[in-house]
Amino acid sequence: MDCNKKIAIAIDGPAGAGKSTIAKLVSKKLKIVYLDTGAMYRTVALKAIRENVDTLDREKLSKLIERINIKVEYIGEDQRIYLDDEDVSDLIRTPEVSIGASNVAVIPEVRIKMVELQREIAQKCSVVMDGRDIGTYVLPNATLKIFLTASIEERAKRRYNEQLLKGITDVSFDDVKKDIEYRDKNDSSRAFAPLAKADDAIELDTTIMSIDEVAKKILEQIEGIC
Ligand code: DC
Repeated sequence: MDCNKKIAIAIDGPAGAGKSTIAKLVSKKLKIVYLDTGAMYRTVALKAIRENVDTLDREKLSKLIERINIKVEYIGEDQRIYLDDEDVSDLIRTPEVSIGASNVAVIPEVRIKMVELQREIAQKCSVVMDGRDIGTYVLPNATLKIFLTASIEERAKRRYNEQLLKGITDVSFDDVKKDIEYRDKNDSSRAFAPLAKADDAIELDTTIMSIDEVAKKILEQIEGIC
């Protein structure tokens, strides 16, 4: 499906709700760019961890963010993310970085810099952007806003299975569930641009929906717009 207009689709929701799978699928169908904004916060966290900076330390993080160079590039449909010119796309997927990303994302100075980058990309081309605050803060005028949810059990199960597929066997289901619970709380309770459903977002509970069903629902909405 081609869209003649410049559009922006915001997909928000908690970890494991299916945002990236759905966003990738929709961007492929529409032949537009997919931007995974979580990868940006993960990259900041990776830099902090490497430099032994506590990811909860606002003062140090607001200095670190001034000398970080994050670049997003596309190799075909694949988004690659660079930290100071090093491709860190795979290195940012560890449990330690997940928690760190949720921590650094609380810090306003970090968010302001990331949001600047995100808006720059949306300015240039049509995008499907996934995150926590895309519909409420980053792109308040997005063409379509989706808020994905799923039960905590189901979300933890998805993340756990993803890890097993990657060959990670030293993290238990309970650890994965605890990490998700920590992030849910941290991401929704922060003062600046928390995880929240925009008033005009369509909420879809993906607990018992298939990926195709969710994508179909979103594409039906888009058909009416393009
Ligand atoms: O989507 P993800 O799991 O890769 O995101 C990692 C963390 O980054 C998440 O726990 C909170 C933060 N994040 C955010 O605060 N705002 C976004 N738009 C995207 C991610």
